[in-house]
Amino acid sequence: MQFLGNSYGGERVKRIDRKFVSPVLIALGLAIFHFGGAPAALAAQSANLQGSAQDVHDTPVPLPAPEQPIPYSHKTHLALGLECQMCHTNPDAGRMMTFPVTATCMNCHSSLAKNKPSIQKLAAFDSSKTPVPWVRVYTVLPGVKWSHRRHLDAGMKCEMCHGDVSQMQVMTNVKSVTSMVGCLDCHKLHNAKTTCVTCHAAWSPEMVVAK
Ligand code: HEC
Ligand code: HEC
Ligand code: HEC
Ligand code: HEC
Ligand code: HEC
Repeated sequence: MQFLGNSYGGERVKRIDRKFVSPVLIALGLAIFHFGGAPAALAAQSANLQGSAQDVHDTPVPLPAPEQPIPYSHKTHLALGLECQMCHTNPDAGRMMTFPVTATCMNCHSSLAKNKPSIQKLAAFDSSKTPVPWVRVYTVLPGVKWSHRRHLDAGMKCEMCHGDVSQMQVMTNVKSVTSMVGCLDCHKLHNAKTTCVTCHAAWSPEMVVAK
């Protein structure tokens, strides 16, 4: 079966706009921020360089799954043998993995399970050319430098940062991958850079406003 290409335009759920104030030296950040211990560094000793799901901390307390507009299940769909990249592409400049266009879903659902209410809702989004307003699960703080492509090119796997997606009936935030310590501990493990400017372009108010 042929699937339509996933164009990137318009399908992204709206993100918070980036705001920067005029740059103040990152050294200020250095002065007010001290790294604590590195819990993963210990667990890390047994990790190999290829990486494993243990390289990124689990979220300390599992976060409840957000309520999605359509009850999409990765477990159901991945059991069909679908590849992540069929729905999640990495267009230039490489930051995003994107969400699938409804046409990708309708390749199957124009005929499959079409009497189910959830699929009728999907079909309504499709025919009105409205992207499904998926609720985001993972987001990094605005202003932090991030790129999926850099990580995929370095051999990092989806499961390292997002857990065992193939078993998820509902997508939830199971990995502390958007926290600074989650990023840093993995960087230490894989000998990636850890200087402040690796991830922070400049000082920004978000850096001091504790979340
Ligand atoms: C048939 C399409 C499809 C396939 C295949 C698929 N996904 Fe998804 N994925 C979705 C949809 C739709 C969403 C949004 C709804 C949700 O969060 O469950 C999503 C959401 C996600 C999210 C949450 C992103 C966020 O921050 O909101 C992650 C992570 C993810 N997928 C990873 C994967 C991985 C890893 C694979 C392969 C193992 C995969 N997906 C395969 C359709 C797909
Ligand atoms: C390769 C074919 C295929 C694609 C592509 C696909 N699905 Fe499915 N989907 C299925 C199958 C098979 C089932 C299970 C149907 C059943 O149990 O009756 C299913 C079930 C579902 C269900 C549950 C229906 C119900 O209420 O029982 C939802 C919701 C759904 N899909 C949404 C989506 C969305 C959203 C996309 C696009 C991101 C998508 N599907 C892409 C094949 C597909
Ligand atoms: C090194 C860690 C890491 C790896 C590897 C990784 N992700 Fe992500 N993913 C993240 C982070 C961090 C975010 C939040 C990014 C943001 O806020 O812009 C994210 C967000 C997402 C999103 C939401 C849309 C977006 O791009 O922001 C999807 C979908 C997703 N990832 C799917 C995948 C899939 C599929 C793979 C494997 C092909 C993958 N990710 C590999 C860390 C990772
Ligand atoms: C699973 C391990 C892992 C996690 C988690 C991870 N990284 Fe990385 N990151 C790497 C590796 C490995 C590289 C080195 C890539 C290279 O050298 O090409 C890298 C490179 C980078 C780069 C490019 C640095 C350069 O050389 O210019 C940035 C920026 C970055 N990561 C930001 C982040 C941020 C922000 C997070 C958390 C939101 C994060 N990373 C989480 C493994 C990880
Ligand atoms: C590997 C990427 C990475 C590196 C290197 C890094 N940070 Fe961060 N930093 C992040 C991420 C991601 C966040 C957002 C955390 C969140 O959303 O909770 C963050 C947030 C912060 C915050 C805001 C406090 C908070 O937790 O929300 C401060 C302050 C900060 N970083 C300072 C620094 C300083 C100083 C350095 C250098 C010593 C540094 N960072 C190095 C990724 C990094």
